[in-house]
Amino acid sequence: MLTTKIARLAPNALLAVLAGGLIACGGGDAAPAEDAPPAAEPAPMAQTAGIDGATEYTTTCSACHQANGEGMPGAFPPLAGSDIANNPSPDRMIAIVLKGLQGPVTVKGMEYNGMMAPWESLSDEQIAAITTYERSSWGNSAPAVTTEMVAAVRAKVADRTTSWTMAELEAAIP
Ligand code: HEC
Repeated sequence: MLTTKIARLAPNALLAVLAGGLIACGGGDAAPAEDAPPAAEPAPMAQTAGIDGATEYTTTCSACHQANGEGMPGAFPPLAGSDIANNPSPDRMIAIVLKGLQGPVTVKGMEYNGMMAPWESLSDEQIAAITTYERSSWGNSAPAVTTEMVAAVRAKVADRTTSWTMAELEAAIP
């Protein structure tokens, strides 16, 4: 009875001791590391699991676009019901978040002519979470955005140093 319990506990305990020892001695040979893959390699999900799109939106975007996504008429365009937010492809929206937008843009029949700053300091994970939230909130129902989609647009527009005009954006991302 007792021996069975020890036998059950032993592998985990051993792993913990082993992992602890590895950290304590600052790495060591490659060979022992093979014994502890579960601890060394986090699941892919963990990369985005800690990031909540709603929270990120509140922190970064809602001061202008408002908590309800309606923006402010004449000053900040709405994301609720906007063509860009509801486009099946998220690429233009990602590009706007990365580089900002300036000059005339018509959203839901109202013209805006303002300036949105770039947010390229946000990670791919943060932008994926924010845009996914915006594309699925306030009546919007566009497909989710992955970190890979953000990374691809980031690479594509990497050379750009100024905010987009709508004409430039439409030319860059047809
Ligand atoms: C300081 C105010 C401000 C903040 C913060 C801001 N925006 Fe904007 N945003 C604007 C303005 C102003 C425009 C319109 C620019 C123009 O007139 O060319 C705009 C335009 C847009 C557009 C295109 C038009 C539309 O409504 O579809 C999108 C998409 C957008 N913003 C997304 C975001 C996202 C996502 C964030 C957060 C990461 C964000 N914005 C943060 C001010 C802001």
